[in-house]
Amino acid sequence: MRHEKDWYKDQVIYQIYPRSFKDGNGDGIGDLKGMAEKLDYLKELGVTAVWMSPVYASPNVDNGYDISDYRQIMEEFGTMEDWERFRDGAHERGIAIIMDLVLNHSSDRHQWFRESKKSRNNPFRDYYIWRDPAPDGGAPNGWLSVFGGSAWEYVEERGQYYLHFFAKEQPDLNWDNDETREGIFDIIRFWNEKGVDGYRVDAISYLDKGLDGRADMSEAFGTSSCANLEGTHRHIKDMVKKTIKPDNLMTVGEVIIRNDQDARDYTSAASGEFDMAIAFVPPIVEIKTWSPERFKREVEENYECLKEDGWWARFLSNHDKPRQVSLYGDDKRYWKESAKMLGCYLHTLPGTPFVYQGEELGMTNYGLPSIEDYDDIDTKNYYHTMIQEGAAKEEALAQAQSVSRDNARTPMQWDESPNAGFSPSRPWLPVNPNYTQINARQQMEDPDSIFQFYQKLIVLRKENPVMVHGDFRLCGPKEGPVIAYTRSLGEETWLAVHNFSDREIWFEHENVSEDSLVIISNYKDPKLKEGAVQLRPYETLVIRISLQSN
Ligand code: NOJ
Ligand code: CA
Repeated sequence: MRHEKDWYKDQVIYQIYPRSFKDGNGDGIGDLKGMAEKLDYLKELGVTAVWMSPVYASPNVDNGYDISDYRQIMEEFGTMEDWERFRDGAHERGIAIIMDLVLNHSSDRHQWFRESKKSRNNPFRDYYIWRDPAPDGGAPNGWLSVFGGSAWEYVEERGQYYLHFFAKEQPDLNWDNDETREGIFDIIRFWNEKGVDGYRVDAISYLDKGLDGRADMSEAFGTSSCANLEGTHRHIKDMVKKTIKPDNLMTVGEVIIRNDQDARDYTSAASGEFDMAIAFVPPIVEIKTWSPERFKREVEENYECLKEDGWWARFLSNHDKPRQVSLYGDDKRYWKESAKMLGCYLHTLPGTPFVYQGEELGMTNYGLPSIEDYDDIDTKNYYHTMIQEGAAKEEALAQAQSVSRDNARTPMQWDESPNAGFSPSRPWLPVNPNYTQINARQQMEDPDSIFQFYQKLIVLRKENPVMVHGDFRLCGPKEGPVIAYTRSLGEETWLAVHNFSDREIWFEHENVSEDSLVIISNYKDPKLKEGAVQLRPYETLVIRISLQSN
């Protein structure tokens, strides 16, 4: 595919979690053949790019985020020919391919690590982060891993510890070693040559560990202590210059953003790093801290921060978060209204929207009934830690149900046949029983469905540059559950208003009039008056307003 300058700005990116998307060979696990079968579905939805979570060879300790061979396809997902068929089918339909690059760590089964752990003097010895034990024989410092327990693991053969910010089966790669970096760049070139159009770069804020004293050794999490150090930015710039820029591929980095400076460092054009950033926020923190007020504040701040020479990745869901309608909307009484409202919010913000599989159907959290049903390593560790710390089983399960990443990973709900049409066999993770009411087949036929609402939003984006390039201005009160803003480009000004609550609320804006043109809305008859609109529960609407009249 051709990659014109800034081509990432007018994309709509659809994230596939391959394990849960569509099973093409009937073994209960989603795969590349299944993904290819659903390309027409994606085309019909209208998305222009697909980001697939990792499909490389992996022992699946962290579902593909632990890669044992970056040049092979995971057996369960098919073969390289299957991948190529998917690529060709996507490209034929004008859909770009974005691969997930997991470069902070590999699997402990990767050949580099199997060699590295053998001795202190083998050719791969410095490919990972090895340190001597502390004087008492314990770990070099007290850092904890993101998935629980120490971030250090002892290896008898070397008499040393290696660092792993995630599971112990995910050893961190040593980016300060020239050969490791070259090896990584060769992997990227391998995929570039295969015709990949862009990359989502996993957990990339911790390449420089700062173990020489620049990171805070006394902090609990190494990932917080060493985030965004100088060496990390240096390595990203080097990687992007050598492997990404020559083909003008699209990049989105999953990073830690604590302030404006971080956002600019990662995504301003001047810094030569990524096109966009996905700011990582732990799901439990998101559940506890999100509010419409926080959204308003953040949207305004990051707009101001990047409007001159940056860009935004917009997402409400991914494979690490609860389902958006369950988290930010109402997955019961106002299920349809709130799912549409969230979709409209996502597509009308400045930036490139990322739609996570099933979001376009309003798929909800399942909250699997027993801890045995879970697959997610993070959920299992979290549950067992809670039990060890004295929590009752019911309490630990209830917590796991609300934060588990498996909420987003239950199989895609295609139709009302057994296993939701995902697979003829028992799926690797249970299907949400609400698939008989929430599924793609029904919604594709129903003009009032969430699916068709998403279709309309995507068409609007393609046809109206104001939605992509328009200036953004927040309006209305900073407090309260209504998020409203204008987007303006040339003569065209659109006002988007979203009610993040189940209450009726009057929203005032001087340029609203009874006959303002309604571009899209999730209620049939928007209640527009002179200078105000009456919003019903979870109502969303976009209207064209005229600024000249005031
Ligand atoms: C972030 C990924 O999105 C998540 O799924 C994974 O567990 C970690 N990075 C580790 O690779
Ligand atoms: Ca399969």
